[in-house]
Amino acid sequence: MKTAAATESAADMKLTHFLFDVDADGVATVLMDVQGEKMNTLSTRIQDDLTKIIDRVEKDPEIKAVVIGSAKEDNFMAGADIEMLKEVDSAAKASQLARDAQAGFARLESLHKSRSKPVVAAIHGPALGGGLELALACSSRICTDDEKTILGQPEIMLGVIPGAGGTQRLPRLIGIANALDMILTGRNIRPPRARKMGLVDEVVPEPILLEVARKQARRLASGVEKPPKRGMARLRELADAQNLQQLALEENAVGQRVLFKKAREQLLKKTRGNYPAPERALEVIRIGVQEGLDAGYAAEADRFGHLVVSPEAQALMSIFFATQELKKDNGTDDPSIEPRPVNKLGVIGGGLMGGGVAAVSAMKIGTPVRLKEVDDVGVVRGLSYVNKQLQNSVRRRRLQPRDAERTRHLVTGATDWSGFKSVDLVVEAVFEDLDLKHKVLKDMENATGKEAIFASNTSSLPISEIAAASKHPETVIGMHYFSPVEKMPLLEIIVTDKTADWVTATCVEYGKRQGKTVIVVRDGTGFYTSRILAPYLNEAAWMLAEGAAIEDLDEAMMDWGFPVGPIALLDEVGIDVGQKVAGIMEKAFGDRIRAPGTMDALLEDGRKGRKTEKGFYRYENDKKAGVDETVYEVLGQTRERTRFAKEEIQQRLGMSMINEAALCLEDGILRSARDGDIGAIFGLGFPPFLGGPFSWVDRTGASEIVRRLERFSQRYGKRFEPAGILHEHAGSGKLFRG
Ligand code: NAI
Repeated sequence: MKTAAATESAADMKLTHFLFDVDADGVATVLMDVQGEKMNTLSTRIQDDLTKIIDRVEKDPEIKAVVIGSAKEDNFMAGADIEMLKEVDSAAKASQLARDAQAGFARLESLHKSRSKPVVAAIHGPALGGGLELALACSSRICTDDEKTILGQPEIMLGVIPGAGGTQRLPRLIGIANALDMILTGRNIRPPRARKMGLVDEVVPEPILLEVARKQARRLASGVEKPPKRGMARLRELADAQNLQQLALEENAVGQRVLFKKAREQLLKKTRGNYPAPERALEVIRIGVQEGLDAGYAAEADRFGHLVVSPEAQALMSIFFATQELKKDNGTDDPSIEPRPVNKLGVIGGGLMGGGVAAVSAMKIGTPVRLKEVDDVGVVRGLSYVNKQLQNSVRRRRLQPRDAERTRHLVTGATDWSGFKSVDLVVEAVFEDLDLKHKVLKDMENATGKEAIFASNTSSLPISEIAAASKHPETVIGMHYFSPVEKMPLLEIIVTDKTADWVTATCVEYGKRQGKTVIVVRDGTGFYTSRILAPYLNEAAWMLAEGAAIEDLDEAMMDWGFPVGPIALLDEVGIDVGQKVAGIMEKAFGDRIRAPGTMDALLEDGRKGRKTEKGFYRYENDKKAGVDETVYEVLGQTRERTRFAKEEIQQRLGMSMINEAALCLEDGILRSARDGDIGAIFGLGFPPFLGGPFSWVDRTGASEIVRRLERFSQRYGKRFEPAGILHEHAGSGKLFRG
């Protein structure tokens, strides 16, 4: 999109990050092009250039209108420069950053509001955070229909709120309820929905974006076209009957109070008070609506400042940086190791996990997949799983029907090994049985070329034991996905002493292309995630045996920030599966990871959890319906429960997971504390606002953690004995994630 004239003008104005060009009709085209970066981000350096551009547009009578777009191939602006936020060390400095950005965008807005020089945002690719706030300050917005184009205010995910006017302009443009939804969830909006809610005024194909934007700018400048209506007037035009009711609520003070009250209730139900950012966002939007724009902007900058330096935002930003680092990590100690191409994937076993792996591989990467099953029913089950995912994507308009059809043909299945000759990587997802895994490994090696990788999705069997049956153990690795594969963000890759580096690099790269955050861990019973989950679930079982109430245990851990409680999780995973894994863990780790042995009675009573609609909870019509009080009798206890303090439950369960994570680092199962934090959060739902087990130790202080563990150890036994590495950090004051 760069033109020679644009570059020349930019040089005249000494612009570093923008191209600038004025056409014969007086329409200035301003293209953002942050130097040295693939993505445009909002930072002070961009703002300096923007000031020069606004000065010029204000003064130059030849310029009648402005179009703002991007010179990058596929992004408008991805948000604020988070590196810049990381460096900020006081709330006052962060608030000042917000005020500066607000002032810059206010000047941009004044070009059309006070000087009648319309400004049209031409959006292709992500317009997120500060990028969307820039577009909101324009007179109108046009975006492309490309699948890369998304609009959103994702600040909440990093523990902050929009700080460049977004909390004020967005509700005025698209209504309070829509704005609350976008800002409090951080969700991305795609072009058709953006058009429907009035966030953009037009959606066009990418090749004509700038042309349409310039035409729109000319028409607005000449008065042929009136600026699109905003807020209520626009919403009334767009609304259907159902939404009209909602709009009536938004229009009067009483209705607004109801709206904010309801939003707050819903929010607290979700966050349980652990996340200050959405609460502040709600407050700032309310202030703007009830007390006016000036008060709203002031509150936005103030709250933004406090949030940037809050421990929650620091934790969430550290997760963000860790995932960025992991994107560049090939999973080996040698960054020069290159992944090999995976031109065809083999999947053995088309059940829940195999079906999921086949689906993400075909849908996200476009890899041809060959599925091997035992019988036709199995093949059909696997293919149907893929088909269902495709249908979901079409229904959600993420995929065109013809593309879904093309993807569907990528996945084929058989009951023999035909089609496996040319596979580069095979993911095995048959039943959790070592002999069976050995058999399919040997059969596969006979069917494929020598260099095909065999990746087992086992959740508990040591990979080296599986590799023992292989003719080429250097090509055997673990790829531990989580269920449901298409939704869960983590992939835990397990390497043995024999796994070749190229095999690791290839699987890491492939996992990333499937859209996963990938950590690589060393082989050992339970790897990392299952190993730290075991003592946590065991501790819940011990407390249950001591008389704790099921709902108290689950509520306490959800209050602590887990998405589900430990007992409900056992029901989800399956009590039979839990019991099997508990046995494996106890065999490997002895008393430290020993369950109280209460599961047998449950299984004898036919309680496997949700899948049998009978477990710790009752299930009605596939829905969880309260604790099944009869379970206590099955456990040989009474319904009379002992009330444990919430804090006690949280500390006992939390500490057991943290201590085991530290042991995994000490044993070399984990390559880094960073991977330990990411694995716990993305794989097990460890509370993100705590930053992961290691960040939490850093925040609390290793010596305090050791003190708490020792206290528990005296009371409950050796299983709480602190890891040596925790003692070390307590002694030296060294941080795990420094
Ligand atoms: P599943 O029972 O849904 O699927 C297993 C499939 O393997 C069945 O469709 C079966 O017909 C097929 N199969 C059995 N023998 C076969 C053979 N010789 N050749 C081809 N196919 C064969 O089991 P699921 O849940 O998909 O688990 C598979 C593996 O993934 C297990 O090792 C499990 O431990 C692991 N895993 C499971 C997770 C879960 O949440 N379900 C999570 C992570 C790992």
